Amino acid sequence: MTGVTVRVPAKLNLQLAVGPPRADGYHDLMTVFHAVSLFDQVTVEPAGRDGVTVTGEGADRVPADHDNLALRAVAALRAAVPDRRPGPGNVHATIAKRIPVAAGLAGGSADAAAALVACNELWATGLSQQQLGAIAATVGSDVAFALLGGTAVGRGRGEQVTPALVPATQYHWVLAFADGQLSTPAVYAALDRLRGERGDGQSPRAGGPRGVGPREIAEPDLDAALMSALRSGDAARVGQRLNNDLQPAAVSLFPALRKTLAAGLELGALGALVAGSGPTCVFLAANAERALELAVSLSGAGVCRSVARVSGPVPGAAVVSAG
Ligand code: C5P
Repeated sequence: MTGVTVRVPAKLNLQLAVGPPRADGYHDLMTVFHAVSLFDQVTVEPAGRDGVTVTGEGADRVPADHDNLALRAVAALRAAVPDRRPGPGNVHATIAKRIPVAAGLAGGSADAAAALVACNELWATGLSQQQLGAIAATVGSDVAFALLGGTAVGRGRGEQVTPALVPATQYHWVLAFADGQLSTPAVYAALDRLRGERGDGQSPRAGGPRGVGPREIAEPDLDAALMSALRSGDAARVGQRLNNDLQPAAVSLFPALRKTLAAGLELGALGALVAGSGPTCVFLAANAERALELAVSLSGAGVCRSVARVSGPVPGAAVVSAG
């Protein structure tokens, strides 16, 4: 085989509930992932040594060395393949990006998932979907979902994914890309700081005024009303239940997002939220025509760098050509 090309979607989080920081620095999550029709494409070909070339949207901001998440995924898969001859050789990965970098859409994780699927095919490893998922989980918190796609519930760091039992209703979304980026660890740290300032999650001080003790940070729980809205397939209900605990933290680091979110709602979106750790803003529209109107109005309002219309759910990373 001379090369394998895989297409992989961006993700949204329709719910992102974040628990307190864990001992390992991560946060326990409860999230509803949703894959949308904005795709990167990754091609792997046998090569003298492992390497990567990145083209397209934001390519200059993606590491082109062994820090690249796709190459880390290649190495993780190689290490997991049982010993046999011929073994998994070196590869060159070419990543064609349409998912903006550091935008809250898990583009890096998507590329890693695509590299896993591509090398799995190229090397004919014979690993099961479940084994690939376990390798994905070691590469990054969102990689396992990029393999699965659709709409799914994520637990743990987000790496434990199970398909959501909801009808395959298509939803129409408008993404507003920001003029700038946010670092995921910085947004989680800002959330911890904001919660600290409010006194959340600290043990009550002796002798403090009664009834005003610090609040506990709740264990993240699945939003039953969102799941019921998704089961009904009613976009208006889904729009009302979109929620993201990281949103206040992202807005505190990127205050212009407040204006973008307000503009989308004023222009008739059924719901609005920040995508993952941001700074992309996500708007739900009632149908494809409304999404087009909203996209045109939003780009005219001057509240973002550019807009895209997408729909979801779509499948996870999949081979588009192999030869
Ligand atoms: O797993 P991934 O490399 O995508 O995570 C990037 C960063 O986001 C982590 O280093 C951590 O700071 C933060 N994170 C977190 N809790 C999660 C997922 C990510 O704190 N569940």
